[in-house]
Amino acid sequence: MNLSSLVKSFKEERQLPISPRPYINHSVEFKKSYTPVERAKMLEKVGLNVFFFPAEMITGCDFLSDSGTTTMTNKQWAALHLGDESYGSNRGYFELIKVIRETFGEEFFNNPEKGKSNAFLFHQGRPCEDALFTALGRLGEGQIIPSNGHFDTTAANIEINKIKAVNLFSKELTDEKSTSHFKGNMDTEKLKKLLKTDQKKIPVVYMTLTNNTGGGQPASLANIREVAEIVHSYKLPFFIDACRFAENAWFIKTYEKEYKNKSILQIVRKIFSYCDGITISFKKDGLVNMGGGLFIRNDGYFMKKYPSLPGGILDYQIVKEGHPTYGGMSGRDIMALAEGLKTIVNEDYLTYRIGQVTRFGQAMIDNKIPVISPIGGHAVYLDINKFYKGTKMKPEDFGGISLTALLLSLYGHRACELGYFAFGSYDQKTKIETHPDVNFVRFAVPRLRYEDQDLLSAVAAVKALHEKRDLIPKIEVAYGRELTLRHFKARFAFKA
Ligand code: F0G
Repeated sequence: MNLSSLVKSFKEERQLPISPRPYINHSVEFKKSYTPVERAKMLEKVGLNVFFFPAEMITGCDFLSDSGTTTMTNKQWAALHLGDESYGSNRGYFELIKVIRETFGEEFFNNPEKGKSNAFLFHQGRPCEDALFTALGRLGEGQIIPSNGHFDTTAANIEINKIKAVNLFSKELTDEKSTSHFKGNMDTEKLKKLLKTDQKKIPVVYMTLTNNTGGGQPASLANIREVAEIVHSYKLPFFIDACRFAENAWFIKTYEKEYKNKSILQIVRKIFSYCDGITISFKKDGLVNMGGGLFIRNDGYFMKKYPSLPGGILDYQIVKEGHPTYGGMSGRDIMALAEGLKTIVNEDYLTYRIGQVTRFGQAMIDNKIPVISPIGGHAVYLDINKFYKGTKMKPEDFGGISLTALLLSLYGHRACELGYFAFGSYDQKTKIETHPDVNFVRFAVPRLRYEDQDLLSAVAAVKALHEKRDLIPKIEVAYGRELTLRHFKARFAFKA
């Protein structure tokens, strides 16, 4: 028997419970060492707000965000050197047009010679939101933008323009018994109801892929298609916040039978065939540290309904960011992005990436730590209400903040409260604190940055704190309780 046929006959035996990473390290950075007391002193100095804690002092994992924290590939580092810093129409711009068309569809980046702009480059995700919602806000007050779950900056950019941001989370998201793989779906019954009564107030309907505010859970292609059909039956535009589009496509390939034999790129093209516009922060699935874009389908419902808005958005972009051929990005960043978009649809990469986040979440579950399940694509979400169940911690004690402060100072891992403090609000006049539906501490996993050992050490740290949860003190808000986007700015102290 020759070796090739022997290897073929070993089909079953080739399936091992763990596979090697599909990449090797290109360059590494050694950490400095700090003691828990040094970290605690620093954290006290910044009022227990982990956003202000110097990243250099993090000896564990930095789970603050998966945004802009990727390790770039050697091809991306090489691409940086090919960057062209010309003031107009740099080399990367043409590369990017090609990749955006190949990834999302021809109609999202029209031929610039036609003079009809439908693609706008920005330095990250939120200025794209700012440009779009400022244009829509000018159409009048009292508008509503529904979504399967708006990210916090998206909601903030909508509401600053006097539009109401509404989240239509799926029922499965809060149903503990549900084993759905697509808890990030939009509740289409609620959408239909809202459209029936308020269609005139709705300028656009949004879906966020994956649903970051909704536990990082993906949406199915069936749900995306259904939402698009409902929205289009009212001749309204449908937009996708595409930050984690490739991770969402991997979930579709893995859990939606119809797409099992399609490539990631084919699934991505299918997803975007249903929408009329895209806002995206390339800091996630663009695999780069900076960049964003707003892309409007040339022949879509947005263009038909608001033909004059793209011209206004173009002027806005030129005034706020730069010429349309570079927007808010340097030439070298555009080159790295064009390369990153080619890598991100690699199925081996996605299987590894999502597998790693799943193993991280599963290790939490195995250690009886309550996390949102199934595990999403980019982060593990700790359910804070369950974490403190049976203790004296009440919602207004902001136990999520206590946990992040102890985790960082004791064990050197930085996670982020995205729950009662981040998404709640406080009315200074009535002294009433309003709680959101969800109360999480999020462990966002940067792309290509950590090995499983790093993540397992974070599990051990959370386990140690879970075992001592009775002893974790409550939080007092020292500054900023009444502010908007308060978690970025507030200061805290432990209650005596
Ligand atoms: N939309 C989603 C779904 C996001 O997750 C983010 C950012 C944005 C828009 C805004 O993009 O940061 O480039 O301006 N999310 C990061 C996070 C910050 O940590 O989840 P940006």
